[in-house]
Amino acid sequence: MNVLSAMAGINDGEFCKKFTNQGVDLITLGGFNLDLETFKAGLENMTKDRKEFITCPHHISEDITEFIDVIKEYNSSWKGKFSVNLRASSPKSFSVLYGNDDIDVFEINAHCRQPSMIKANTGQALLQDTTLLQEILEEVTTNSGKEVGVKIRANVEGVDILKIVEIINTYNIQYLHVDAMKPGIMEADYDILNKIASNTDIHIIGNNCVTTREDYEKMIENGASSVSVARAALNGDISHIFL
Ligand SMILES: Cc1cc2nc3c(=O)[nH]c(=O)nc-3n(C[C@H](O)[C@H](O)[C@H](O)COP(=O)(O)O)c2cc1C
Repeated sequence: MNVLSAMAGINDGEFCKKFTNQGVDLITLGGFNLDLETFKAGLENMTKDRKEFITCPHHISEDITEFIDVIKEYNSSWKGKFSVNLRASSPKSFSVLYGNDDIDVFEINAHCRQPSMIKANTGQALLQDTTLLQEILEEVTTNSGKEVGVKIRANVEGVDILKIVEIINTYNIQYLHVDAMKPGIMEADYDILNKIASNTDIHIIGNNCVTTREDYEKMIENGASSVSVARAALNGDISHIFL
């Protein structure tokens, strides 16, 4: 499966629609902030180079439907799936999207590393607070009625990522999206990807620094079942990677 990875403030319907013609099977919309705490963190997160979807949590359901409709109108024959990358500070906050039948996958964001997000108990904070991670996994896998993915970041200081994988393995999770980043290195950490893949049967989406077909194949050779790209999509053409 070929995946467009989340980019907050960028991955809306207009931006994503063109990739339905470029071999993408799973479009990730967002990330979105689902409650007041993460909404405020989103505001703090904004810089000249960093955007957010500034959507009031009350309107997020309609906004996502609008994004999905734009994509479906643009390419009604596309057979792919819609995932939404979600940040929330408490398990119950995910329920705001349970009624969205147009969403196929909830991707729990255990990945964002901005201090404001960590302070709001979302993103990478879930790799440190495994009790909260488990409460969220329990809530979403039990009550969302969707496929569930978890997006994690490798090589976070003080985090034993294999312990996190062990926890995730005990829930009904369909996708483990691994940003195999290694600080200071402009290439994915294929060793950690391999280790994670050997410790789970969950479908792994490999992510980080994929810009060529060769990078894509290296991800697959190192344990990924699917591959995702984010920054490579910013120029609007990823067909050389996925087609
Ligand atoms: C502008 C921008 C915004 C991003 N926003 C999110 C986000 O909201 N949630 C998330 O899980 N990842 C987010 N990411 C991370 C990407 O999804 C991806 O994991 C990361 O950029 C590494 O992949 P790449 O090398 O293909 O870009 C963002 C990345 C960029 C560049």
